[in-house]
Amino acid sequence: MTSFSSSSSSSSVFFSQTCSVCGCDRRTIMHLFLLLILHATAADGQIDPAHCRYALGMEDGRIRDQDITASSHWYQTTGPQYARLEPDGDGAWCPEGQLEPTDSQYLQVDLGRLTFMTVVGTQGRFARNSGNEFARAYRLNYSRDGVTWKTWKNRLGSTVMEGNRNAYTSVINDLHPPIVTRYVRLIPVTRVSTTVCMRVELYGCQWDDGLISYDAPEGQLMMRPGYLIASLNDSTYDGTHERLSGGLGQLTDGVVGLDDFLRSRQYHVWPGYDYLGWRNDSAGTQGSVEMEFSFERQKNFTSMKVHSNNMFSRGVKIFSSVTCWFKPRLTAGWGAEPVVFKTVLDDRNPSARYVTVPLNQQTATSIRCRFTFADVWMMFSEISFQSGKTNTNKQTNTQTIHPSASAPPDDGKTPVLIGCLVTIILLLVLIIFFILWCQYVCKVLEKVRNPAANQSNLQRLTCVCLCPLACGGGYAEPDVTQCTPHQCFHSDAPHYAETDIVRLQGVTGSNMYAVPALTVDSLTRKDISAAEFPRQQLIFREKLGEGQFGEVHLCEAEGLPEFLGEGSPLPERDGRAVLVAVKQLRADATAQARNDFLKEIKIMSRLNDANIIRLLCVCVTSDPLCMVTEYMENGDLHMFLSQREMESTLTHANNIPSVSLSDLLHMSVQISSGMAYLASLNFVHRDLASRNCLLDRRLTIKIADFGMSRNLYSSDYYRIQGRAVLPIRWMAWESILLGKFTTASDVWAFGVTLWEIFTLCKEQPYSLLSDQQVIQNTGEFFRNQGRQIFLYAPPLCPPSLFELMMRCWSRDLPDRPTFEGLFQALRPHVHQ
Ligand SMILES: *[C@@H]1O[C@H](CO)[C@@H](O)[C@H](O)[C@H]1NC(C)=O
Ligand SMILES: *[C@@H]1O[C@H](CO)[C@@H](O)[C@H](O)[C@H]1NC(C)=O
Ligand SMILES: *[C@@H]1O[C@H](CO)[C@@H](O)[C@H](O)[C@H]1NC(C)=O
Ligand SMILES: *[C@@H]1O[C@H](CO)[C@@H](O)[C@H](O)[C@H]1NC(C)=O
Repeated sequence: MTSFSSSSSSSSVFFSQTCSVCGCDRRTIMHLFLLLILHATAADGQIDPAHCRYALGMEDGRIRDQDITASSHWYQTTGPQYARLEPDGDGAWCPEGQLEPTDSQYLQVDLGRLTFMTVVGTQGRFARNSGNEFARAYRLNYSRDGVTWKTWKNRLGSTVMEGNRNAYTSVINDLHPPIVTRYVRLIPVTRVSTTVCMRVELYGCQWDDGLISYDAPEGQLMMRPGYLIASLNDSTYDGTHERLSGGLGQLTDGVVGLDDFLRSRQYHVWPGYDYLGWRNDSAGTQGSVEMEFSFERQKNFTSMKVHSNNMFSRGVKIFSSVTCWFKPRLTAGWGAEPVVFKTVLDDRNPSARYVTVPLNQQTATSIRCRFTFADVWMMFSEISFQSGKTNTNKQTNTQTIHPSASAPPDDGKTPVLIGCLVTIILLLVLIIFFILWCQYVCKVLEKVRNPAANQSNLQRLTCVCLCPLACGGGYAEPDVTQCTPHQCFHSDAPHYAETDIVRLQGVTGSNMYAVPALTVDSLTRKDISAAEFPRQQLIFREKLGEGQFGEVHLCEAEGLPEFLGEGSPLPERDGRAVLVAVKQLRADATAQARNDFLKEIKIMSRLNDANIIRLLCVCVTSDPLCMVTEYMENGDLHMFLSQREMESTLTHANNIPSVSLSDLLHMSVQISSGMAYLASLNFVHRDLASRNCLLDRRLTIKIADFGMSRNLYSSDYYRIQGRAVLPIRWMAWESILLGKFTTASDVWAFGVTLWEIFTLCKEQPYSLLSDQQVIQNTGEFFRNQGRQIFLYAPPLCPPSLFELMMRCWSRDLPDRPTFEGLFQALRPHVHQ
């Protein structure tokens, strides 16, 4: 099969795309859909790491046995030729004896030709249940010539990749950065003495350029007196660094830089990461930069494409001219006739661009080019070469699937190609059909249900449409506790009885807590542990907010301390009246809303933590139903911080309200502590944000859930076809795309909340993106190909803290920290 990285991962792409369908409106669906299709077809002659993910032939045998070798093997039956990844097979390569932490045993694969490698997949030895050996971690060495070996490093410099956790599941690792190589060594790594076995597949595509190294002056730093603006060095270069020589790096990694060189497509790396850049007046570059390119064999070159920045407002321009010399053979000298090319300089359009330099069919194994500066800076992010044969690259691309000599004859491929195309078309038709069907079901359900009750309940809608996949269709992961089919299609029946997790939408229009299932079918007065407060002692002061079925009022509660008795959780009030927040259900609320309100009371009454807003008492013996919670006099954190500046001599002198860094850290710790408490009870908050954190005068924080009911913050929520409102800028990708809310998605929101705190809530998250763009960005988080836009590092924020935020935004749920971990990590900062 000529499949992408692995059939399971590409099919899950389809499924999750379709899953998202009903959680979002029609435009969003089309966006996601178009993105999917566009990404599948975009490729303009350059290597695109996102699509260069073909299996290279371990599993299907295109890599021959004699090309797979090893430093040692244990038995005949665990020799290197058995190291082929297989869904059901049981063979594997195992190095001899126990693997010690100091050992360097390896499995070596000769791919037969230079290959752009993007993914490695590994598996353990299963042997019909009798084997149980696998490699928990491994390193990767690679070599283009079989002589000099280099160790692969990720963008942060780490060399060890995580391997398998059990003997049968395969685990794939994306190589960021990808590598150009012919030989690959997988080196299992262990911390304790153990036996290991491996099965392997490698993924990538043919490296048509044939480029094996480029030499150039090392990129430079862009400084302003006192501080660094951008580092334009070649940080992934795999040769020597002083003058870049003998290696490949960022100019060949397939990552095309953005128009603004200060921004990067990668994880939050440093400004200028994607570019290699030089200044015109430094020692190595007097008015021009000389680069030399070496190829594996002689070629007739048609052109060279140089992706160059042109941000002239910062003194960057494409080169004004380039002169190239050619060396036809290794032993020959440089040819006398250079090719000279003058570019048309462009002072209007600051976009980064590919400049195509014609090379006039010159024959060469090495090319030397001198690029002349047009301004103070010159910056390149990619360079590629086109040669005679590779012009029709669409066809050669499919040939890349057969890297070894034993490839089947050419005409065998056409049926496979056609088969693939037909499959893709069928899948698309199916998906379109599914969308239409989904919308139909949604509409029917809307009509059937009480029109008042279906408002703002996205959960049930999502549920209806996700059901066939999430519940019945076998897609469900064990932790996707969306719903049961029963619950989906009989949403007017008591639907919480059968599931492990119940999600409630606060009837006041505030957030939905997800809670461990209650064992009762309906709630009565006796289930509620909070005491009944005499209604007439609540004196209305101000309306705080309003939701679908209720209102939140600020009230004075006469005699509340006496009512609650000794040890009551009220703050000291220095003789003043006790202010409380009163959530009240409207008289016209539906029975469902009423029931949910009672459940919310029950849930709230079980929460008892210093950093969670507390339920004080209730009025449920007569209508309207009320719950009385603590009120915090400093209002919410968003309001509090947005009115303040960082503490400085200026703020002291002018009496401007200010906060200190240690205040901010103290706030963060409290929020993590409150959330750790919720997590310990398996509560999912779903709307953690600074607007939902309340503050008292001593800056004690309590987490609440009023945000959504307040008009003030309506721009923080995204309205889906007028039905549900979602805080998309705080939501994890899986919550938006899959409707999946977990403690891990709360952790994501916590990261965004931290970001708000350290920007003093002066800016909405992703303020430059529209709601639609935020949702598109979610798709990028899901695809994780480095195109996603992260929140920037707030200038106030210590780097270690920003790293913590970035971990909260990990694509994979297990990579995100826990709240307990966050609390432990934040706490030591406070008393510095
Ligand atoms: C891997 O490469 C490093 C150089 O980066 C070398 O020191 C080491 O010996 C290599 N290991 C193997 C097993 O090839
Ligand atoms: C490139 O610059 C960055 C940021 O200044 C630095 O951390 C990194 O070590 C440099 N890389 C190399 C290979 O010099
Ligand atoms: C560098 O560029 C600036 C601005 O274009 C120019 O004034 C200066 O002469 C250049 N220096 C060299 C060494 O070319
Ligand atoms: C390059 O082109 C010349 C004719 O212009 C031809 O003789 C030669 O075989 C070609 N070389 C390659 C490597 O294609």
